[in-house]
Amino acid sequence: MTSDAVRRIEVKELGPEDIELIRQIDRSEYIDTLYTVKDGRLHANSVEIDVPQWDAEGHGEHSSARRITEFRPVVDGGAVLLGAFIDDLLAGIAIVDPSFEGTTAWFAFLHVSRAYRRRGVASALWAAGEEVANNAEATSMYVSATSSGSAVGFYISRGCQLADPPHPALLAKEPEDIHLICPVT
Ligand SMILES: CC(C)(COP(=O)(O)OP(=O)(O)OC[C@H]1O[C@@H](n2cnc3c(N)ncnc32)[C@H](O)[C@@H]1OP(=O)(O)O)[C@@H](O)C(=O)NCCC(=O)NCCS
Repeated sequence: MTSDAVRRIEVKELGPEDIELIRQIDRSEYIDTLYTVKDGRLHANSVEIDVPQWDAEGHGEHSSARRITEFRPVVDGGAVLLGAFIDDLLAGIAIVDPSFEGTTAWFAFLHVSRAYRRRGVASALWAAGEEVANNAEATSMYVSATSSGSAVGFYISRGCQLADPPHPALLAKEPEDIHLICPVT
């Protein structure tokens, strides 16, 4: 769908069964900043957190199997699964529901494997997600973002702002997340 010849990032629309590729993502990350929202503003808090890879075994809270179970119904319900590849190797995955609510799309999932970060992979997935949203005539994208410096930093770099008010159901599902709304350009 989208390719970046310079960085050789290729984004493809995948089939619903490819949700299993989530198992290949290395989500591990050292987090030094977590954001909170106070009085309608973002506040950065210093932390030292080593996030391990998802558990490859079992179906626990931090397993890749749990992520697949959580997002399979979203994809089966019409959301688009996008994979970013560098030299034919999976670098990142995103899920975009272009018809979430009215003219608002939902960027439901975004993970770039640790080895591929800061190379424009998430940006390429975002651009492809915007294309999907645009094709469905969505004018904004909702994101319930992990509160880490990397996730919030990425979405702010895409022009996202605090959602006011946050989406009630998504806020109830992820109350610790930073809820953002972004223009679809
Ligand atoms: C957040 C994440 C998806 C970003 O992916 P990425 O491919 O590294 O992002 P890009 O290279 O496209 O970065 C684009 C811009 O986002 C911002 N950004 C990316 N990582 C950042 C970080 N660690 N801290 C601050 N800003 C960051 C920067 O403005 C960056 O531009 P620059 O590299 O020119 O400075 C990736 O770090 C990740 O998968 N993290 C773990 C999972 C996660 O938090 N997912 C989001 C869940 S909602």
